[in-house]
Amino acid sequence: MRLLALAAATGLVVAYDFVKEYSGPNFFSDWDFFGSWDNLTLGDTNWVNATDAWGHNLISVNQAGNVVITVDQGNVDWNFKRDAVRITTQDTYNLGTLWIFDVYHIPWGCGVWPSIWTMGPDWPQGGEIDIIEGINRQPANQIAVHTSSGCTHDPNAWQSGASGAADCSLPSGCLVKQTDDSQPSFGDSFAQAGGGVWAVQYDIEGIFIWFWTRARVPQELYQPAAESLDINAWGQPVAAFPSTTCSMTSFWAPQKIVIDTTFCGNWAGVPDLYAETCAGMPSTTGAPATGVCYVDNVIGPGSPRFDDAYWEIANIRAYTTGTNGPVATSLPDNSPSTNVKVPASAAVARTCASSSVPLLAVIVGFLWMLP
Ligand SMILES: *[C@@H]1O[C@H](CO)[C@@H](O)[C@H](O)[C@H]1NC(C)=O
Ligand SMILES: *[C@@H]1O[C@H](CO)[C@@H](O)[C@H](O)[C@H]1NC(C)=O
Repeated sequence: MRLLALAAATGLVVAYDFVKEYSGPNFFSDWDFFGSWDNLTLGDTNWVNATDAWGHNLISVNQAGNVVITVDQGNVDWNFKRDAVRITTQDTYNLGTLWIFDVYHIPWGCGVWPSIWTMGPDWPQGGEIDIIEGINRQPANQIAVHTSSGCTHDPNAWQSGASGAADCSLPSGCLVKQTDDSQPSFGDSFAQAGGGVWAVQYDIEGIFIWFWTRARVPQELYQPAAESLDINAWGQPVAAFPSTTCSMTSFWAPQKIVIDTTFCGNWAGVPDLYAETCAGMPSTTGAPATGVCYVDNVIGPGSPRFDDAYWEIANIRAYTTGTNGPVATSLPDNSPSTNVKVPASAAVARTCASSSVPLLAVIVGFLWMLP
């Protein structure tokens, strides 16, 4: 009886094998740059191409070896947009993937709308996971998943975050706010805490997201990349979207990762939402505040208003179960797909060996406690 209960509590042992790291000087080589204005969220933003991103120093690697993605700090005239970066992985990841995002700084400030998210090749079909997202001076991160109609958020999901809407086809998506003030997840408090790490399990069982503030990041998530990760020790996720009320095979297609920063647009720039954290902020030009996001923020000098509008990322890593790992998918626009990274059988063997150790330790420990 007790052993059965233990097995149920422990669940399936799922170990993930390392397949890919984006970091350092090579970080940007496997991403596509948008190279056009923000016609998706209607931000006052030109998302530059790779040439301009490098040439205008919007992307770089700092002395710590971390990648920095920033926005144009120059003067922007009336009726012009401000330059920023939106990049998408060339790799596409299938169910059976675990992504790790080690982040030191998220863009924040009035008029700023950053996000790290994933999308299917047929977006907005095929699902979208908003892992890191927020606007203006919002205090905490908002996670969301978006799908076509028919997918909901299980009210019994085991998670620490606070759920919003439960219909994932609504404009807000299935929303989960991070609420643990001891683990800052957005804005200045996130940066002051030294950032943190998000882990996203994208699996046939559902989508599960963990977050650790810098002081609590598990050691196995640091350098060098662990060959295999056993996620059972991670405990309660901050957001859980189990497949119980959202079939992963029906609503989800293989995903690409997107990193972007935009200005204002149809979330950060909505007057009521802008006013929630930026009411009365003086405009960048020194003119009295108008409450209009574009007028008060985007035009005029970039600094100091956008001094904090940068990403600093140590690395992004991808792991796979090896059964449904990252695959080459034929994309509808005939883009070349480069990702065929099925782990070698040696890696799979290593996974089995390493993943059985913690479970064995738990069982032995448990038996020892029996009278
Ligand atoms: C946005 O612009 C890009 C690049 O010009 C284009 O490929 C895409 O179709 C546009 N999307 C929409 C929704 O207009
Ligand atoms: C990059 O964008 C700039 C500005 O729109 C343009 O002048 C340039 O030709 C583009 N370069 C490439 C390689 O597309």
